[in-house]
Amino acid sequence: MTTTEPTDEVATLCEKLTREEKLRLVQGSPDPEGTATGYIPGIERLEIPPVRLVDGPMGVRAGGFEEGLPATAFPASIALAATFDPNLARRQGVAMGREAKARGQDVVLGPGVNLIRVPHCGRNFEYFSEDPTLASALSAGVVEGLQEEDVVATVKHYVANNQETDRVTVSAEVDERTLRELYLPAFRAAVEAGAGSVMTAYNRINGTYANDHRYLVREVLKDEWGFDGYVVSDWFATKDTVGAANGGLDLEMPGGSVADAFSFDAPDEAGGKDEDHPADGPPADADFDLESVATGGMPGPDQGGVFGEPLAEALESGDVSPDRLDDMVARILGQLERIGLLEGVEATIERDDRGGALDTPEHRDLAERIATRGTVLLKNDDVLPLSDDDRVALVGPNVDAATVGGGGSSAVTPFREVSPLEGLRDRAGEVSVARGVPEIESMSFEDLLPFGDDSDADQDADDAPEPTVEDAVATAAAADVAVVFVRDATTEARDRESLRLPGEQDALVDAVADAAERTVVVVNSSGPVELPWREDVDAIVEAWYPGQADGDAIASVLYGDVDPAGRLPVTFAPEDEYPITDERRYPGVDDEAHYEEGLFVGYRHFDDTDGEPTYPFGHGLSYAAFEYGESEVESTSGTGATLRVPLENVADRAGREVVQVYVRPPDADGPERPVRELAGFASVELEAGETRTVDVELEERAFARYDEADGWTVDPGEYVLEVGRSSRDIRSTATLER
Ligand code: BGC
Repeated sequence: MTTTEPTDEVATLCEKLTREEKLRLVQGSPDPEGTATGYIPGIERLEIPPVRLVDGPMGVRAGGFEEGLPATAFPASIALAATFDPNLARRQGVAMGREAKARGQDVVLGPGVNLIRVPHCGRNFEYFSEDPTLASALSAGVVEGLQEEDVVATVKHYVANNQETDRVTVSAEVDERTLRELYLPAFRAAVEAGAGSVMTAYNRINGTYANDHRYLVREVLKDEWGFDGYVVSDWFATKDTVGAANGGLDLEMPGGSVADAFSFDAPDEAGGKDEDHPADGPPADADFDLESVATGGMPGPDQGGVFGEPLAEALESGDVSPDRLDDMVARILGQLERIGLLEGVEATIERDDRGGALDTPEHRDLAERIATRGTVLLKNDDVLPLSDDDRVALVGPNVDAATVGGGGSSAVTPFREVSPLEGLRDRAGEVSVARGVPEIESMSFEDLLPFGDDSDADQDADDAPEPTVEDAVATAAAADVAVVFVRDATTEARDRESLRLPGEQDALVDAVADAAERTVVVVNSSGPVELPWREDVDAIVEAWYPGQADGDAIASVLYGDVDPAGRLPVTFAPEDEYPITDERRYPGVDDEAHYEEGLFVGYRHFDDTDGEPTYPFGHGLSYAAFEYGESEVESTSGTGATLRVPLENVADRAGREVVQVYVRPPDADGPERPVRELAGFASVELEAGETRTVDVELEERAFARYDEADGWTVDPGEYVLEVGRSSRDIRSTATLER
């Protein structure tokens, strides 16, 4: 299966293509229209149209960095994961597919499915979870949705790209079982859901760059999983022509080397180049050292540009076989055929007819729905929901801006956005406002570049009156309830230095909590943060990066118009209690990050050490209250199981519960296994007083461990199925024999 079986049409096209044309199809080049993140020039004489690849995964980022062409800005992927609802993921995929088509794009560079191993990772907001079962379900959902719309989904970044520090050089030193059980499943799920493309990571895995990783790319992904789409490099990640071609890479992006990109002229109007993207070069008068661009996780000047002429030479010398080139081309054309791009000039030129749509009421509603459904109520001492006549003090340095996303390639420019201030004013009527401490600046790629321009930020700082904690305290004391918004600031290519909130925000919460009658804290973060004041406040809401609907979504949760239905897809714990505190593990020494914790990542670690997380995996409160009955198992060996869980909403209001099922393996001699692992889940809405039996499907793989000699292995014995509200709040159990 390393080689695909092309369809007749693709095979016929391949026969007609010259070698030079084939070489053009497997390497990107600049998009003449300037809208795409990556571009494959077409072959006009054979009616193969140009192909446009555009960034995701939280919306469509056509037209460049920072101020791209507008699109619906969905919440952070970690918020989507907090919904525990693959159907919402599928719907987001559909919406992004439609928006991509409306922008003339054919491929979306998402979903991002790397497992959250390091709580500091600067891209956690783009990823789903510390748990492979949850990440797999969401990954499959987004892929299905995108591909339903005849857009190619690109699952990224294959694999073990779990930190941004040194991401372009570090080697993830990870054993086979850990790879199989933790880091690979979300990619396999995407492939099983039909993903047309897989993007390789910047980093190395056990010493070999992902791009050149013959074992992981050819043997595992293509041969074993039967992946018949194409493998694309991350941008400027390639280093070695023969290594990448023979390793299984099918498409190099964006085309030339970093050095080539930086020698481009300054952008001009017609050229459509993006002034902010490193790929498109610095301003013409910039004075900087190319080497320094490589810091902070950016690829160095020697990277990229290994296909094209060097690939032609490798074919000439016999280092790469013509069959390999044919296979690359067949894989790419196979996807173009699947999405209807090989149906002739008429069909492909008329791209407006492909059913695309931007910023529709459905897309706006969906962005808000995912934001509310992904909001996690961490703590509530009878203060939420707020009542309509509460006098609210709104406090926080960034209350007048929506937290649309983090920095880097995922940054979407929304058509519209609602700040917390606008959302709460709209819902609550009069609110008093105090910022308390200086604004927390968002981070972007630009901050990491030597020619980054931060004059705007300086300008803002000069104009704005300096906020004071005293003012915030006085405002909070005069109200019935203080709602304090705090946030972190993260970007691709840089990890967070600490899990503490940046700036003076912790001190602000302390001061307000002392003065206010009741205090609610809303956290906008990319992943886990430390909440040192949590005992002193009455409620804590984790709202992640909520995207364009920020203010509307949080207002409807705070006032109880919707039930906060999110559950934590990551464990919240003090920084020094995660398993990656040793620098050998993270960020690594001598460019090697040793995954010595093995399977014991996230809640698997805290269960193993009997540690007390601040808030455990799966945790999240509801405004309703649920009672669980005795679960029953229906099971056929070899084909998984269904757990039938009786659930009652005993509250006098509707609410949403996420029923979680964890599996505990039998006591058996043999390799160590985690105490419990998420096996399945279901998110269900129940009216006040409603009783329902919820079916949770468990795949047979949920019981298996990976054995290096025998592959996936289900040990015989008794498995305990724990049913509950979180990994630490088990309400009933059932057993299952294997
Ligand atoms: C990121 C990818 C992204 C690509 C194109 C890289 O920096 O790692 O996720 O798709 O750029 O913008």
